This record gives sequence, structure tokens and C-alpha cells, in this order.
Amino acid sequence: MCGIIGYVGNRDVVPVLIGGLKKLEYRGYDSAGIAVVNAKGVDVVRAEGKLINLESKLGEMQLHGNFGMGHTRWATHGKPNENNAHPHRDCTGQVVVIHNGIIENFLPLKQKLQAAGHEFKTETDTEVVAHLIEEKMNSGTKFVEAVKSAIKELEGHYALVIINGAEPGTIVAAKHGPPLVIGIGEDENIVASDVAPLLEYTRNIIYLEDGEFAVLDQKKVEIFDGEDKLVTREPKRILWDAVMAEKEGYRHYMLKEIHEQARAVRDTFTGRMFEESGQVFFNDLQFTSEEWSKFRRVHIVACGTSWHAALVGKFLLEEAARIPIEVDYGSEYRYRNPIVDEHTLVIGVTQSGETADTIAGMQEAKRKGAALVTICNVIGSAATRMSDGVIYTNAGPEIGVASTKAFTTQLTAFYLFSLYVRQLRGESRDDIRFAMHEMLVIPHKIEDLLLKQEKHIEELAHRFYKSQDFLFLGRGVHYPIALEGALKLKEISYIHAEGYPAGEMKHGPIALIDENMPVVAIATHTPVYEKVVSNLQEVKARDGKLIVICDEGDEAMKKLADEVIEVPWTVEPLQPILTVIPTQLLAYYIALRRGADIDQPRNLAKSVTVE
Ligand code: F6R
Repeated sequence: MCGIIGYVGNRDVVPVLIGGLKKLEYRGYDSAGIAVVNAKGVDVVRAEGKLINLESKLGEMQLHGNFGMGHTRWATHGKPNENNAHPHRDCTGQVVVIHNGIIENFLPLKQKLQAAGHEFKTETDTEVVAHLIEEKMNSGTKFVEAVKSAIKELEGHYALVIINGAEPGTIVAAKHGPPLVIGIGEDENIVASDVAPLLEYTRNIIYLEDGEFAVLDQKKVEIFDGEDKLVTREPKRILWDAVMAEKEGYRHYMLKEIHEQARAVRDTFTGRMFEESGQVFFNDLQFTSEEWSKFRRVHIVACGTSWHAALVGKFLLEEAARIPIEVDYGSEYRYRNPIVDEHTLVIGVTQSGETADTIAGMQEAKRKGAALVTICNVIGSAATRMSDGVIYTNAGPEIGVASTKAFTTQLTAFYLFSLYVRQLRGESRDDIRFAMHEMLVIPHKIEDLLLKQEKHIEELAHRFYKSQDFLFLGRGVHYPIALEGALKLKEISYIHAEGYPAGEMKHGPIALIDENMPVVAIATHTPVYEKVVSNLQEVKARDGKLIVICDEGDEAMKKLADEVIEVPWTVEPLQPILTVIPTQLLAYYIALRRGADIDQPRNLAKSVTVE
């Protein structure tokens, strides 16, 4: 789970690499490094910590060239220090490698290479690749062929970019697992872990598939499959605007992305539901009623925030489909031998489309004969390529490590999918039309909520930011929102927080409640509203500090709670899109007050491509 970039062309390569790494830093940021090839040979510069450290090191040097590569790391093997930072080199210093993923058999390979006289300088698994290529070249094999042959010996998963100082102008890239995309420019070519760093130079993008291998130079890109056959693939034209990925004046990407949610939700339903005809249509997913009627069960597989979206999705889909739905963590699903056959639909939910656990769960389901659908934000990502159908969440690039707009657009996608299922099952068009109308007005309600509540939530954050623990409570569709609120708070503010179904509190967590414990509850009008109120009385009776996210104008709640955050009314299945927003803002402003690194919280990375 690292960021990779390689460039060959006419530009001065150092600014290209650093600019690209800035856009990839969300993938890992414990160290960074670049390799530049010029007339003097290969220069490698690395630094521990964030990219800024590498930049200041480079500021003191006069490093130029128009061919090189860069890496930003999230450590797996070896401490996150300068010595273990990529790029890594062979004994000669000419073969240079950057890597995302894990080489599982690095130890036996390393031992073999050490016995053959290779000297290792780092604790990483990656270094083995450089020496293995060198070993092949020592016996007369040419660079590109040596890379191909070395890769055949690797086990595990990798995205690799490799250069040879003795062959300037040639970049070799190989993919088995983590993503690699190639930007086809004019008189320049560029390879990276995702499209964001490429957009400044080109919009013509080729996604490498697993097992593929690419050789780039300034004029051309050649791709080979696992059997070394030349692959012909037309580039895709990517319409994302490079500026869409910038902060646009917000202090953090996370805040910008919270504010983008009205737009992102709108973009996710636009062109897919037609109120007049009461019909839902997806470009990349089509079932006939007959195909749908064959499904006996649905499994939803996801991780983290996407898993919380999946829990809401279960409520919506089970109601629409009336067949059993299970939700699993990707990391659990793959190992629990799930009951899956051709009558099973498996839905993978993933913002990045590259999360290793989710992908592995989906692969397992596919192997067992399930139909695969993914709800995903990244066009052409691994999850989308393996699926029979895709519902893209048109959130645009999400840079903040803490997921916000990806979540609300996933909820939107589930809502649309539930309407689609109702349509396939022949439900009344009028009912579907009503449900669509409610969706259409949600973006206005998001804007209204942000406008009216953001300041108030910021003030609440100032009052509560010193708390040691938080409890989040919700029932029904709001139980996943309680989980998501707790996750958001812990990941960016490092405050311990737990999410619980409100009715479950009395079975244990109630013991935690005293005057120091803030309890954030979601209590809008759903069929279990009265029950939630009773649970909140239990909190008050124990002097807990009660912050309630409730419907606008809920006077009874204003009397019961210490603080309320009012949200506009909507129908129950859409309420989570609104009620989650105060939890995002609360986490954001608490973290801000605590001086935390909001967009790049410690120990986390945006895209978790390791198991
Ligand atoms: C939390 C967060 C993570 C991701 C999880 C899955 O804010 O972002 O929990 O939701 O790593 O990532 P995707 O959705 O890319 O599969």
C-alpha cells in the first residue's frame, strides 16, 4: 500500500515525480524516495517521514534528468526509516526497484541470493527483486528479459516499477495485485498507482491487468500478458478534472469532501433514475426480472466505512428483495467457507476498488459460482474488472484518508439498487416514483444541514474535544451510522469511541456511563423512535452527556438531550445519508481542535492493498 510513479519524456523529472507523489501520498507516508537517471548515472534520494522531508533534502541538491521514478511508502517489511525507504538497488546500484505489495517468498529468495554473494542493505522484501534481476543479468540475460524471468519467481502480490541505469529511457512495470495505470502522452509516458498524478500530462489511460508486464519508453508502451504475448489495449479516456483533486481553499481534503456530498450524491443518482417513468437504469449493470428471480441470497462484502455502508444496504435491499442478505468483512468472508452457489449474488462495496480483503472475498465468491456486482468509486479498478455488473459511485477522487463522500454515495447507490430490485420484482411505479422524489431532494437537504449545523457542531467539538471516550448509539438504519461515527472519531482524533445498537447498551456498555462520558445518539423518527428515547433516558439517569442527532423541530428531544443537532426530515431509508454528516463534522472539528493530522492520520493509508 504505497504510491508509485515512473516517468520518461522531455520534462525535468524531479518536479514531475514530486508533484505525482504529492497526489499519491494518501497511499502511504512513512518515507519517500526518488531515483533519477542522467548522464552521471543513477541518483537515489530518500527520506524518512512525509514527502516534505524528501523535498527539503532535494532542495539542497541540483538533481536533474528526464527519466526516473518515485515512491511513497507504507511499511510492511522493515521499519519506516530512510534505509528501508524505496527505491532499492542491486549490488551494482544500476537496477533500481520500487514496489507496492508483499513478496511472500522473499526470505528463501534472499537466502539463495546471499549465498550467491549478493549483499543486502535493507530489511525490506523489495530489495530481493533488484538482486534477483541482477543475478539473471550476471548470466548474460538482457535487462527486460531478466525482469520477466525474475518476476516468474515471485510469490505474493506486487506492483513493480523497475529501471536500469545502464539502459536509460526504459521503464519496466509489472502488476500482480495492487493497481498500476499507464498514462500515454505525446513524447512522454508515465506509470503510477492511480490516475491522479497522470491527469496533468494526459487523459489517455491504460489499466494494467494482473499478470501483465509493460515496457515504456518515451515513444511507446508495450504490454505483455503472463505468457509473454503482446497485448493490444486501447487507452480509456478519463474525464476527471485534475483540479477536482485539489483542496479548493478548504483547510483539509476531508472538510472539502464533506462539503462535496450534495454534489457527489446528485452525480450518483443523475441519469439513473427517471421520475416521470418511475424507472431506474444502470449503464454497467443489467438484470432481467427472470435473472433476478434466480437469486436465493445476497452476500455483501466490504471493509471499514464501506462495510458500514453495506450494513445500511442490507436494510434497504432486504426490504426490497425479500431474500436473506448477509454482510461480511472481506477479511472474514474469504476464510469462512461461505455457502455460495450460482443462486448467490455477491456485492463488493469498495471506494478504491483495490482493497485486498474485499477483492479476495469477491474472488472466493466468483470461484464458487456467484454473480458479482460491485459498488465502487474508481473506474477500471480491480473490483470493477472482475465484476459482472458495476454501480459506480460518482463521488470523484477521495483524497482524505477518512472516507466521507464515498460513504454517502455508497448509500445512494444502495438506495438506487433497492429501487431497481423493486422494479425487477414488478412493484408499483407510483411507489417507486415517490421514493425517487425523496432521493431527488436529498442534495438540497445536505446543503441545508451543512449551512445550519456546521457552526454549532464546531462549538460542540470545542466543548468535548478533551473527552477520553465517546459512545455512539443508534438503532435500525442508524446502528451502522453509530458505528461509522465512532470509526470516524477514532481514526482522525485518536479518541477511543464505540458504536452500539442503542437497545444493546443495557447489556454491558451502560457500565461506562457517567458525567464524563459523551454519548452521541441518532434518534430521528423511525418506527423505533420511542424505544431509542427510552434508551436515552437510561443514559440521562446516569448523568451521561447526551448529544442527539434528531429531526428538525423535535421539541421533546430538546428537553431530554444536553445538545441536539437537527437534521431535515426524509424517509427512513434515506435518513442515514443525512444523519452521518453531523458525525463526520464532529470528528473533523474535534480532530482539528486536538491538532491531529486530519488528512493523513497516523498508521493509516487510503488504499489497503495488503491482506
Ligand atoms: C475509513 C476508511 C476505511 C475504508 C476501508 C475500505 O474512513 O476509509 O475504513 O473504508 O479501508 O476501503 P475501500 O472502500 O476502498 O475498499
